[in-house]
Amino acid sequence: MLKLTSIDLNKSKIDTLAIAVCEDGEMYDDPIIVAVVEKALKLKEFKGEKDETVVFYDLPDLKAKRVILWGLGKLKKTDREAFRSMAGKTVKYCINRQLTNLCFAVPDPSLTKMKMPAILESMQEGAYLGNHLFDKFKGEKKKQPLKQIQFRVTKPIGPKLRQLTARVAAICQGTIMARDWVSTPANEKTPEKLTRSIVNLAAKQRLKVRVFNQAQLKQKKFGALLAVAAGSQSKPSMVILEHKVPGAKKTVALLGKGVTFDSGGLNIKTGSSISDMKSDMSGAAAVAGALIAAAKLKTKVNIIGAIPIVENMPSGRATRPGDVIRSHAGKTIEIGNTDAEGRLILIDAISHVIKRYKPHLIIDLATLTGACVVALGEKIAGVFSNDDDLAADIIASGEKTHERCWQLPLPEDYKDMLKSDFADMNNIGNTRAGGAITAALFLSAFVDDTRWAHIDIAGPAYLKKESAYCGPGGTGFGVRLLSEVLERVS
Ligand code: BES
Ligand code: MN
Ligand code: ZN
Repeated sequence: MLKLTSIDLNKSKIDTLAIAVCEDGEMYDDPIIVAVVEKALKLKEFKGEKDETVVFYDLPDLKAKRVILWGLGKLKKTDREAFRSMAGKTVKYCINRQLTNLCFAVPDPSLTKMKMPAILESMQEGAYLGNHLFDKFKGEKKKQPLKQIQFRVTKPIGPKLRQLTARVAAICQGTIMARDWVSTPANEKTPEKLTRSIVNLAAKQRLKVRVFNQAQLKQKKFGALLAVAAGSQSKPSMVILEHKVPGAKKTVALLGKGVTFDSGGLNIKTGSSISDMKSDMSGAAAVAGALIAAAKLKTKVNIIGAIPIVENMPSGRATRPGDVIRSHAGKTIEIGNTDAEGRLILIDAISHVIKRYKPHLIIDLATLTGACVVALGEKIAGVFSNDDDLAADIIASGEKTHERCWQLPLPEDYKDMLKSDFADMNNIGNTRAGGAITAALFLSAFVDDTRWAHIDIAGPAYLKKESAYCGPGGTGFGVRLLSEVLERVS
């Protein structure tokens, strides 16, 4: 879908040409584009301010049928995210008008504060992701994605730019898989169905796939995971994906919370808090998407993906508040609240991965707490780590991809809040205060000395309303972030 080109604008036919315009500085060196930009800036209604647009049809010096000029605002403020957003919105503009082919004029980096890879990469990301529609369950498909999106550069196109384009495509495909899994309604992604879907797509990329079914989970004593699954008609699983690189010294384990629907269990959720709980497997989706992308990109580090998949439901067989269960690691846990289920399935995955693979590094992603959304809002994820350098790497990666992360603390003395009178631990803190922290501290009790980070994505995993390069529904948050982190640690 993404294509690089270096066509002459006065010779080659183009359906729609998109040009980004800053209000205070020229970004192009091609005299044809410079002339069009000048013409637009003479208009009263266009100054190049953020998201202003103007369209010209059949300009004499250009073979494009239409030219869209899109305002970026101040040149000094144009960063990766500005280009991503502009590209995403331009693509959506075209989709809404039933257009099929779009060509972006890529700015000349020497005239901007950014470098070439960064400009092209971010425009391609915004365009690719903005071109995704989740319309699987719609009878009449009113909107169609664009068939082709070209990026026109004035410099010769070498292998580096081609490689970059292939990398963007692979990572965006992983992101879109994650979005689709998250947006799929819970009745269409029961644990069995989600397991099958992940296994199928992972096997296509030649990832090594292993699935523990319910009987194997019982036999291997995944007691915490099974306690969460107990109330559901659907059978749980643990999916293990392996990306193995001959000669690689490091192994990174990625863990993702896969609760296909979180009703809360017997501590049932009420009101609107239950309505988007199909998204409670967003961590699982991000991990699977990132591993599939890594397999395509032949990322140079061993990666283990561990994805516990369950549904949290109330029923006659459901785990009760006050029950005491035994985790895979052998610790007993009093169930203070059946709605604190994510941490239970994650600790069994953590224990298994440490015992079986001894990874150098564990990163888990989970829509773990509403408290994290209260603390950081819907667009920023919380990061917790026993290693500040690892947290810094994750935060820096998120700055690059605009999957923003903010570190929260793991205060030793807060662990007292998880004490139980009847078991080794309680699965909730004794007060609502600091809920994102107590959840992370609960996980930390199972990681031993392994370098570990936990990313609470309860806020940014799901959008009720569309944004610049995402529709309503799953955002795929974490796939681009993890791909960047893996690049840094490999
Ligand atoms: N899946 C929820 C967290 C969540 C909330 C995700 C909002 C996305 C949006 C999690 O399983 C949960 O229910 N957490 C409880 C924990 C509490 C019972 C200690 C919460 O946050 O209220
Ligand atoms: Mn819950
Ligand atoms: Zn949950």
